[in-house]
Formats: sequence, structure tokens, C-alpha cells
Amino acid sequence: MKAFLLLFGAAVVALTRAAASDGEISFEYHRYDELRKALVSVWLQCPTVTRIYTTGESFEGRELLVLEMTDNPGTHEPGEPEFKYIANMHGNEAVGRELLIYLAQYLCNQYQQGNETIIDLIHNTRIHLMPSMNPDGFEKAASQPGEIKDWFVGRSNAQGIDLNRNFPDLDRIVYINEREGGANHHLLQNMKKAVDENPKLAPETKAVIHWIMDIPFVLSANLHGGDVVANYPYDETRTGSTHEYSASPDDVTFKSLAKAYSMYNPVMSDPQRPPCRKNDDDSSFKDGITNGGAWYSVPGGMQDFNYLSSNCFEITLELSCDKFPSEDTLKTYWEQNRNSLVNYIEQVHRGVKGFVRDLQGNPISNATISVEGIDHDITSGITIQRKIPITPDTTANSTMVSAFL
Ligand SMILES: *[C@@H]1O[C@H](CO)[C@@H](O)[C@H](O)[C@H]1NC(C)=O
Ligand SMILES: *[C@@H]1O[C@H](CO)[C@@H](O)[C@H](O)[C@H]1NC(C)=O
Ligand SMILES: *[C@@H]1O[C@H](CO)[C@@H](O)[C@H](O)[C@H]1NC(C)=O
Ligand SMILES: [Zn+2]
Repeated sequence: MKAFLLLFGAAVVALTRAAASDGEISFEYHRYDELRKALVSVWLQCPTVTRIYTTGESFEGRELLVLEMTDNPGTHEPGEPEFKYIANMHGNEAVGRELLIYLAQYLCNQYQQGNETIIDLIHNTRIHLMPSMNPDGFEKAASQPGEIKDWFVGRSNAQGIDLNRNFPDLDRIVYINEREGGANHHLLQNMKKAVDENPKLAPETKAVIHWIMDIPFVLSANLHGGDVVANYPYDETRTGSTHEYSASPDDVTFKSLAKAYSMYNPVMSDPQRPPCRKNDDDSSFKDGITNGGAWYSVPGGMQDFNYLSSNCFEITLELSCDKFPSEDTLKTYWEQNRNSLVNYIEQVHRGVKGFVRDLQGNPISNATISVEGIDHDITSGITIQRKIPITPDTTANSTMVSAFL
């Protein structure tokens, strides 16, 4: 009996060890193929709560891969909020790309290990992680020899387009509407065809616009590098001047969201943190957050586009002074940002939630919801879901997995 118990104990230890090493995070850079493999590994490790899909292709034909994490992958569940993180739209800003891979691995490991916080989060949220919106730019940046990477190489997509200046400039429209009257939300409504036919929009931009339109996201963050701050709307100034505080109607909410990130990051929130470079103007930074326009005006950015075209509130996170730091610093960046990344997702459960119904109890989609004192309406969700291709489903077997790789 005693011998049996001992043996049994040893077997348990061995099993636990195997699971832990399966789920270990390896803090290294992932080139395009390695990124795919890393996401597939998470999917294989946590098949019941993950799914991989693509929102489209880059100019050079690389997929814009997304890992979804939720209890019922592949469907929008009424009442369960949709959240996204999107990184590496500037291909040379590499830290966010890696952090989203580590986050996927961390959430899957913690889920398997029975962490109640993470289990609740995954069961009650539909989380979408896009580690790279600009895989072509990343490959270009990463291909430079040596540790030190140029400050600009790989920032744009393969056509030379800066994706964070390439979105339809809805700020200009809302600023006119503020003065002359007009819509304060969903400004791209009924303009989808114009987007599809606009030759100035990069394929990466178009793919992300469709993604924003198709999934009823309510909260998002967009990960960058080159500084350390959480930046919130508006990014584009009302007058066109370079630096000017540009409050959105949800200024109070946005400040609180940005702080929900910065306060959990000891470097970002440190009031004594010196500027990244001696001559940087960080005068608009306070508690690790800044209004976008107060820092510097960005027309055509993705953050304001989310807010003005959809129900999605997005902030922009600058995570590192260096855009492409050496590999041995990646673990430190993960440690600085881990709690922030989780805490920011949890913010999606703040505020008011519910359904809009008619007197018979039938749900009403696309109903306008106004909050007194906030000149920015939102709408109730719609039930239509675009089917997204190359989605190996969770019943997939090894044949399908190798085909996918
Ligand atoms: C569970 O996850 C939360 C959120 O990341 C973390 O703060 C906590 O330390 C984890 N618990 C354990 C036991 O690892
Ligand atoms: C939502 O309602 C607006 C009018 O309030 C309309 O222009 C728009 O086409 C509707 N969108 C959908 C997807 O039904
Ligand atoms: C794997 O799945 C594919 C597609 O569903 C199927 O055609 C194939 O027979 C399966 N292979 C095995 C070994 O189960
Ligand atoms: Zn950037």
C-alpha cells in the first residue's frame, strides 16, 4: 500500500512537471513562421477556449492572425463583451507583438492551472489578440543585422504607408458636426463601399476596418513602442495645431481606462521616470497617461477611428523607449506589463450592461443609446456574424494542424 502511494505520488509529480514545461513562456522574438507556430501551440494546449483566425492579408501576403480566447470560440454570445489587443501596426515596434504572444501563453497556462481570476475572465469575455497588424514591416525590421535596429526601418507597411495615419479621418467630420450639427457616432455608417474602393487604404488597414465593423468590440488597446505612456483620444487636435488637449466626450472614462493600464505598470506610472531621450517633451504626461492631442496631433490614426466608427473605445499604449530592444530585455517588459495587460482587459466589465428590447421582449439591434451629458452615443449590437476563413475548429486533429502550419 505504501509503495503504491509513493509510486502514485511520483507519477503526479512527473505529470505536473510535464504540464509546467509545456506551458513555459520562452522570452524571445518570433519571426512570422514562429509567431504562427506559437499561436498554434497555444491553441493545441487550450483547444476548448481558443481559436485562430485571420482577418486578411498584408500587402506581401502574410496573414493578419488573431488568437481568440473565450469559453465558446467562434461566436458572439449576447451579453459577453468583445475585447481586442492589436500590436505591431508599426512593424519596427516589436515589444507589443511579443507581449501578446506571452499573454496568450500566460492566459492559457493559468487557465489550465485553475486560476479563478483567469478562468472567470476567459469565460465571461471574448478576447481577441492580434500580435501583428504589420507583419511585412516586422520582417523588414527584424532582418537588419545586429542588435541595434534603425529607428524607422519597418515602421510602414510594404507599400511605404504608415498604417497609423491611414485610417479615414473621422475626427475632421466629428469636429465639423460639433459646430454645425450632425452625427456624433458611427460616422462610417453606410460608407463601407467607399472604404473598399479607396485606393489610398492599405490592405492591412482595410482588413482591420472590416474587423472593427464586423465584431461588436467595446474595448481595445493598440500597442506601440518608442515611449512609455498610455495615450487616450482624441489623437487629432480640433484646430490642427501640433499640441493641444483634445478632449473626447468620454474624456473622464478614457482617463480612467488609461490609468487602469498605467497604474499597474511600475515604470509607466513612476513620476520620477526620466524621459526616454533627453530632449523629449513629456510635459503632457501625468500618472503615466496623456491625451493624444496634448502630446502631438495624429490625423488618420486607428484609436480615434475605433471610437468614431464603432462602439469600441481604444487607447494607445507606448511600452518601451526602444522600439526593437535586445531579446534579453523581453522578460523584463513582460514583468512590467503583465498585470496591466490583464487589468485592462478586466475593465471591459465596468459600467452598464444589458439588452434593449421592445414591449414584447424582442431584442432591438442598432438602437441608439444616449447618456445624458455625454455627446457620443453608442448602439445596441447586431447579431450578424461574418464567417471567418481558415479557422481550424477545436475538433481538429493533427492532420489539420500540420496543414495549417
Ligand atoms: C491568477 O491570475 C492573476 C491575474 O493575472 C494573478 O494576479 C494571480 O497571481 C494569479 N494567481 C496565481 C495563484 O498564480
Ligand atoms: C443602423 O441605424 C442607422 C440609422 O440610425 C442606419 O443608417 C444604419 O444603416 C443601421 N445599421 C445597420 C447595420 O442596420
Ligand atoms: C482529421 O480531420 C480531417 C478533417 O475533418 C479528416 O478528413 C481526417 O480523416 C481526420 N483524420 C484523422 C486521423 O482523424
Ligand atoms: Zn507606433
